[in-house]
Amino acid sequence: MRTHYATQLSQNDIGKEVTLCGWADSERDHGGVIFIDLRDRSGVIQLVCDPVVSASAREVARSVRDEFVLTAIGKVRARGEGLANARLKTGDVEVAVKTLIVENASLTPPFAIGDEKVAEETRLKYRYLDLRNPKLQANFELRSKALHAMRISLQEQGFTEIETPILTRPTPEGARDYLTPSRVHTGEFYALPQSPQLFKQLLMVAGFDRYYQIARCFRDEDLRADRQPEFTQVDAEMSFCDDNEVMSVAERLLQAAFKVAGRDIAVPFERMSYDEAMELYGSDKPDLRYDLKMTEMADLFLNADLKVFAEIAKDGKANRVKALKVENGERLTRKEIDYLTDYVAKFGAKGLAWIKIKEGAPQGPIVKFLSENEQKAIIARTGAKEGDLIFFGAGKKKIALDYMGRLRQEIARLLKLADPDAARFLWVVDFPMFERGEDGALAALHHPFTMPRDLSAGDLEDIKSIAYDVVLNGCELGGGSIRIHDEGLQREVFKMLNIQPDEQRAKFGFLLDALKFGAPPHGGFAIGLDRLIMLMSGSESIRDAIAFPKTQRAQCLMSGAPAQAEEAQLNELGLRVRKASQ
Ligand code: AMO
Ligand code: AMP
Repeated sequence: MRTHYATQLSQNDIGKEVTLCGWADSERDHGGVIFIDLRDRSGVIQLVCDPVVSASAREVARSVRDEFVLTAIGKVRARGEGLANARLKTGDVEVAVKTLIVENASLTPPFAIGDEKVAEETRLKYRYLDLRNPKLQANFELRSKALHAMRISLQEQGFTEIETPILTRPTPEGARDYLTPSRVHTGEFYALPQSPQLFKQLLMVAGFDRYYQIARCFRDEDLRADRQPEFTQVDAEMSFCDDNEVMSVAERLLQAAFKVAGRDIAVPFERMSYDEAMELYGSDKPDLRYDLKMTEMADLFLNADLKVFAEIAKDGKANRVKALKVENGERLTRKEIDYLTDYVAKFGAKGLAWIKIKEGAPQGPIVKFLSENEQKAIIARTGAKEGDLIFFGAGKKKIALDYMGRLRQEIARLLKLADPDAARFLWVVDFPMFERGEDGALAALHHPFTMPRDLSAGDLEDIKSIAYDVVLNGCELGGGSIRIHDEGLQREVFKMLNIQPDEQRAKFGFLLDALKFGAPPHGGFAIGLDRLIMLMSGSESIRDAIAFPKTQRAQCLMSGAPAQAEEAQLNELGLRVRKASQ
């Protein structure tokens, strides 16, 4: 029925008869002439319902309210002298309506479309209305185009798209599994995949050489602004390759995605080791749009009268004393410094010492504990100048690096140091193979299938893996690794992770078996599509990149999932729900 989308019309179409379909965005009655802004997925155009043109169309227009569904037939004409609307793409034309059809009425919407001040809960409950917001529509347009471009890029690079199961066994990626009970095998459960990791490795054993998939993943974990319980990965795996080749495939893929938004990104991306990222930026996903770097200071405080620092400085392997110099840091008010002190305390900081360079001399609460030589050495090492502020964090390595990294980000936020239009990509490489949890237990930092560089390197925590993460503006966009393709080595790594042989067999027997039948060397990566679109579209939340997202409490407010199951269904599955009190 439709001849044009709203924003296809311009002065070139003046005099043409057109048919438009869409929603009433707004209506104004000007002394008998009714103006309706008609919205379709392309944008908005003004309809004029003038009794001089058509008395019946004007009559119908009287009944039109926000979000009524309309078909309008009429002639394109220029807007009157001085009536052009520069804010609209179609602002210098309008359609004089001859026939107006109300295809469907609408209740008064609970909020005006596009009003972002409305509580998110309400917007999520009526997600189908919220999605009418042109800004959100643009995100999904971008998502579709970027995904299309990435598919083409992978196809051109020789990858084959293959689907792997959703009903499967657990894949360890560090989160809890979502389980699905089996009716046929009472008491047994499928796990929804946290990623296609094991299956894609088996596809390499099967000889596909290059695989990809737009894969839905499920993880029951604490949700944040960049995490959803179900999300999509652009997932790939390849054989007979090294880490450099895998990274360049991923770079080309991201290049193709950004191209869609008219942005040329330079490859190869910068690389930085995990250790360097942690020591300099206190994060394994540093935002490099601003330069704030940390400096190690332990040796300068060894003999200082500042006893807390001197004590911490003694153990250079276990502890850190870091300085973070903020150029022109005097811009931070006392109140902001107090706020930052409270902020880092939440992450385990025992305090937040600082020195300000004012009138050529260091000032601040710790200066009195420092000799003149110590003060000079601090200034020399940090390169602090008049007006600069130096923050100090001292403590256990992991804690001090972490809260100083957070301090760095928070200062950047307060001082608006990051260019919102910049796209700073970074590969973080040489991740440790293992990390020790709070309980002291060793866990795989990536996943237990990652290839170690050298298993004999001193402490288990010093062993590096051939793993890499791609970071964009301080957000982890994706990651991957070269995998273990030797069954003996895989067993050894399981053993180091305290996964005993019978557990190895029960959970990963199929993988260990497959590795014995000619598994090629292989590796791959996965990019978080939702995060990519969130960043490309400049959205604050991953929810703006997912059509029907869940809340922080993993609920869908629109459909009401999750919900209780009916008794009959539970019986069939052999399940009984325990009351919370039992
Ligand atoms: P990883 O667990 O690092 O690696 O996940 C890869 C990318 O997926 C995205 N991502 C998420 N996005 C939204 N919500 C979540 N809850 C969520 N969790 C992860 C991130 C992340 O960088 N199998 C490996 C990849 C491999 O080794 O090939 C894996 O899943 O952008
Ligand atoms: P105090 O002598 O405890 O009052 O500490 C002097 C200054 O050092 C104060 O500004 C504290 O905030 C700061 N401070 C104390 N402990 C630490 C620490 N572990 N790391 C950083 N600053 C600290």
